[in-house]
Amino acid sequence: MSLFQVYPLQPIAITKALGSHVWDDKGTEYLDMYGGHAVISIGHTHPHWVKRIEDQLHAMAFYSNSVIMPIQEELAAALNKISGKKDYQLFLCNSGAEANENALKLASFHTGRKKIISFSKAFHGRTSLAVAATDNPSIIAPVNETGNIIFLPFNDVESLTACFAKQGDEIAGVIIEGIQGVAGIYEATTIFLQTIRALCDKHGAVYIADSVQCGYGRSGKFFAHDFAGVNADIYSMAKGMGNGFPIGGILIAPSIKAKFGLLGTTFGGNPLACAAALAVIEVMEKDNLMEDAAEKGKYLIEALTNIKGVKTVRGKGLMIGFEMEIGLEDVRKVLLNDYKVFTGEAKPNVIRLLPSLSISSAEIDLFLKGLKEAIHQISNKAN
Ligand SMILES: Cc1ncc(COP(=O)(O)O)c(C=O)c1O
Repeated sequence: MSLFQVYPLQPIAITKALGSHVWDDKGTEYLDMYGGHAVISIGHTHPHWVKRIEDQLHAMAFYSNSVIMPIQEELAAALNKISGKKDYQLFLCNSGAEANENALKLASFHTGRKKIISFSKAFHGRTSLAVAATDNPSIIAPVNETGNIIFLPFNDVESLTACFAKQGDEIAGVIIEGIQGVAGIYEATTIFLQTIRALCDKHGAVYIADSVQCGYGRSGKFFAHDFAGVNADIYSMAKGMGNGFPIGGILIAPSIKAKFGLLGTTFGGNPLACAAALAVIEVMEKDNLMEDAAEKGKYLIEALTNIKGVKTVRGKGLMIGFEMEIGLEDVRKVLLNDYKVFTGEAKPNVIRLLPSLSISSAEIDLFLKGLKEAIHQISNKAN
């Protein structure tokens, strides 16, 4: 049986990983500045993470959500502490799309309304409502099309205010990434997030902070939305949460009340996933990875800004996007093939850096050296 060919693959088979490095089946080592798409938060196969999962595997791999699961409560307490969202409630699921799906559904249940505001270039996942709220018609199947999503221009206070003025009593929620990832690393402005908060308060709508990619410490704060100094009603999380073990979740404000049967999942909150997520938080706290992400990100952004050939740099912490000058579009390919560095991309021409938060300064310098040499190599060939 063949695999369903939906991913344009690099012709490289990765079979081993440690920290910020991965190896292919021939033993070639690569520097991972991509983190398997922002997923690796504390480093590949971190020993504490491996041990936590291994211990849990020996104790119990699975039971359903019909019994008390102390490890879920342990995770909820750890998340309350590290996120600073003290009285929030936790619902656990398995992926980013599922987290947003539940967030959107909850906003609708809570308000009894149908309309959701989303923004240009947003990416919220590939399942029914999450994909409907994603600004990419090519991945929305006819069955996912709904008249319930209102798309507005990103960071445009005026159009948001006008929309609420016109139909505020129909709006269940507003969903927004603190830093748009798939779009190519664009930050939501402080004034925009503050306006969302104020308008949701005024009209009784739910502010959903999609933190699947920009959350979990990557920006230098636990949630990138925190830079605006206001709280969202629901935060969706996944990616960095399990460091590669599939887990997602939503943090829910105390004003939103639970009811038996409102949400549910078979695998969400399974003990192995909770063990992985606890290991991530424990390492983040012990090694100060959030502060590190802020500092190393600042260094990396400044260094990139000063490299000849780099046109623009955007982002916060270790969530960075940059564009090259005309003639240097092949830099990402050269970095991978000749300098053995994995990076991410955003169409048409943004290179995305989403490394592990535990990346060392020496590894960052190794990347910068490779980038400069790759630029040099391309420029020399052109002359
Ligand atoms: C901001 C954002 N939301 C949601 C998702 C969907 O997450 P998943 O692929 O785990 O379903 C992604 C994935 O890239 C994302 O970047």
